[in-house]
Amino acid sequence: MYKASDYHIPVLYQEVIENLAIKPDGFYVDCTAGGGAHSLGILEQLSSTGLLISIDQDPEALAATKLKLESLDHNNTQFILVHDKFSELKDILAERNIDKVDGILADLGVSSHQIDTARRGFSYRRDGALDMRMNPNNPVSAADLINTSTEEDLVYILKVFGEERYANLIARSIVEKRNLKPFETTMDLVELIKSVMPARSKREKHPARRTFQALRIAVNQELKELEKLLEVIPHCLNNKGRVNLISFHSLEDRIIKNKFQEWENPCTCPNDFPICVCGKKPLGKIIHRKGIVAGKEDIAKNSRARSARLRVFEMN
Ligand SMILES: C[S@@+](CC[C@H](N)C(=O)[O-])C[C@H]1O[C@@H](n2cnc3c(N)ncnc32)[C@H](O)[C@@H]1O
Repeated sequence: MYKASDYHIPVLYQEVIENLAIKPDGFYVDCTAGGGAHSLGILEQLSSTGLLISIDQDPEALAATKLKLESLDHNNTQFILVHDKFSELKDILAERNIDKVDGILADLGVSSHQIDTARRGFSYRRDGALDMRMNPNNPVSAADLINTSTEEDLVYILKVFGEERYANLIARSIVEKRNLKPFETTMDLVELIKSVMPARSKREKHPARRTFQALRIAVNQELKELEKLLEVIPHCLNNKGRVNLISFHSLEDRIIKNKFQEWENPCTCPNDFPICVCGKKPLGKIIHRKGIVAGKEDIAKNSRARSARLRVFEMN
């Protein structure tokens, strides 16, 4: 029998388990099962009348989570694994005759397994197919985007999703290069980026870092997925139910922060109105105003933790 603490511990693990305020007989959704550590940590807190639903769009993540959850053999705990996008949360619950749950977790972005598996194409340090699809059944890979997008669209992707200051230069070079030979592998792209980036930019972090982040977000429509999830969450949480969201870059964190503020204070009346006439009522409260960031120990073990931020909201 395994315990969650026997496994690779994900970023902000303990903070999530505490901030979900888990009730043993509650219903919980882990929207991003990944390696299954958070799911296992939640399941460990549940009794036989509680339920965990673990969602992931990556079948490899679900297989890893299944192994972990099946290894936990106490209290006859119940769990369901779902291969889907988390934006489908409302339908996922409805199909199982569940109206609302007591807690929702999303640990956004890419998993260690995805990054470490060269053939998945997520890593600028490993040679593999230029793929980056979390769900391999999706039609568009990173190579498709790189080889077929217009130069303008590539600039947009690199600027908006990667905040890449050399977006114009990289996009132009990609278009020139692909006219000679289409991009196939991660290293095709890394070599091109290294060859065009100015020397001073190479002294900082890896020169392909922002381009890879941008492509991954575009391929998996990560910001759209997050926005759709945030639209359905208020309809899926019980009174006092909590949502825990971990983001790894400012683009995601801004979306979460703004939405939580809107939920807490949805009133749209002008500031000089003596009373509220819009009738929009707060949905609940933000639990940690600035969110929770990883401690020194977490960062020492995993450099991704440096940019992680957990935000927590509790529904009325
Ligand atoms: C950072 S990992 C989660 C790690 C996990 N908390 C653990 O304990 O191992 C993120 C996971 O979310 C999945 N994912 C990302 N976006 C998704 C989406 N829109 N719908 C479903 N799964 C998604 C990825 O496939 C990946 O496995």
